[in-house]
Amino acid sequence: MQLLHLDSSVLGAASVSRQLSAGIVARQQALHPGLRVVVRDLAADPALHLSGAHVAAFQGVPSDDATITADLLKGNAYMDELFAADILVIGAPMYNLTVPTPLKAWIDRVAVAGKTFRYTASGPEGLLQGKKAFIASARGGVYSAGSPAAALEHQENYLTGVLALLGVADVTVIRAEGLALGAQAKDAAVSQALADIAALPA
Ligand SMILES: Cc1cc2nc3c(=O)[nH]c(=O)nc-3n(C[C@H](O)[C@H](O)[C@H](O)COP(=O)(O)O)c2cc1C
Repeated sequence: MQLLHLDSSVLGAASVSRQLSAGIVARQQALHPGLRVVVRDLAADPALHLSGAHVAAFQGVPSDDATITADLLKGNAYMDELFAADILVIGAPMYNLTVPTPLKAWIDRVAVAGKTFRYTASGPEGLLQGKKAFIASARGGVYSAGSPAAALEHQENYLTGVLALLGVADVTVIRAEGLALGAQAKDAAVSQALADIAALPA
């Protein structure tokens, strides 16, 4: 079995989503001995913003731009790692109401019609099969269902929507929110999320 571990926080050792994603990976390793883990730190080594030059090269127009060629290769590697993974663990902080741009750049490389989803007469159909995903969600405010800011939740909803588009419906969200509401609130949110990780079933 293989697990793909993505992180996207820019906060390094202080990152809560990184703490949670590492915890989820450790839990999956305990549940699945021999699990192979592939790590992509999207903040440390992001793909470029999608550009016309990238799209043209992706569609087969020859490019002599070494930056674009390297970016195409990175996108191919993202795709191979995604197809090879049985389990996805996505560290996803909320930045400005949604996911960090390096995570969006990863999505821009793997959400490709004809590869990971296709258009049909009845709408788009995901082409990934049998995969399970975990989202390690961290955010300063509170956006859970029922909260006053719930309508601004474009991070978890967006990610689960993209995963569903690609055919990944088995998604578990581990969430620590309200992290900016004081030390006590932060400690409680992180402790709860770690307890949720410890209780994840096989
Ligand atoms: C650039 C930036 C933008 C942020 N935007 C939001 C936001 O829109 N809403 C929110 O609740 N928290 C926001 N935060 C707070 C983060 O969600 C919070 O610090 C969380 O811990 C980030 O996850 P991380 O620790 O894994 O980086 C923002 C933080 C940064 C650095």
